[in-house]
Amino acid sequence: MRPPDRASELIGCAALVVAAGSGERLGAGRPKAFVVLAGRPLVAWSLDAIAAAGVPRAVVAVPPGHGAAAEEALAGAASGFALGLALVEGGAARSESVRNALAAAGDVEAVVVHDAARPLAPPELFRRTLAALADADAAIAAARLTDTVKEAGPDGFVVRTHDRSRLWSIQTPQAFRAAVLRRALDVPRDVLAAATDDAWLVERAGGSVRVVESPPANFKVTTPHDLAVAETLLC
Ligand code: CTP
Ligand code: MG
Repeated sequence: MRPPDRASELIGCAALVVAAGSGERLGAGRPKAFVVLAGRPLVAWSLDAIAAAGVPRAVVAVPPGHGAAAEEALAGAASGFALGLALVEGGAARSESVRNALAAAGDVEAVVVHDAARPLAPPELFRRTLAALADADAAIAAARLTDTVKEAGPDGFVVRTHDRSRLWSIQTPQAFRAAVLRRALDVPRDVLAAATDDAWLVERAGGSVRVVESPPANFKVTTPHDLAVAETLLC
């Protein structure tokens, strides 16, 4: 597969944005993706970056029962996509939300999955993950670890220190050859529920996954502290 490294080559791509979580740890009283960040719903920032990257269509998985509110919140973001923006209902687990979004993406060659909760992912990161599909089934944004990593037993005593140079903290965007992701997601619900990222599903199916180094700004908004940091960076 050729690397989709120019805008014209992204035509066979779609973004799958997962925004169906409840945001319990943020505790904002509404789904996290629709919490207001610097004047706009959190998910709108990611959609802008994806549109700016040249990805022509996006499917957003939203919490069941929130379709109408989501449609209103995202009306402004739709104009950025040459081939449109669609909403689908998410599932109980994150990977179920991805599966629902993929089913609505149509006949595409590549997809890029992104957490609505990462509003600061830059357009170039979407492009770099998609381009890295030239020689991999999946290409995933990842940050180098800056802290030393130790493993401790249940008693709290350290048993070993890991070689940090080979360890990565995994994020989104995660780009996939669409056929590979479709096959990887075709597993029982309990396997989907166990997946903390979609690349793991590709790994367990024997696919090749490469890391793409991401910038420090690509953190996930999980807690009120993260939301305050994101607000500072965007204002
Ligand atoms: N997500 C989803 N469907 C789910 C669960 C999560 O689409 N069933 C999405 C979230 O909307 C978020 C991303 O997956 O954009 C990463 O999940 P996380 O940060 O854990 O968000 P929440 O599940 O909403 O937060 P919490 O775990 O604190 O409830
Ligand atoms: Mg969650």
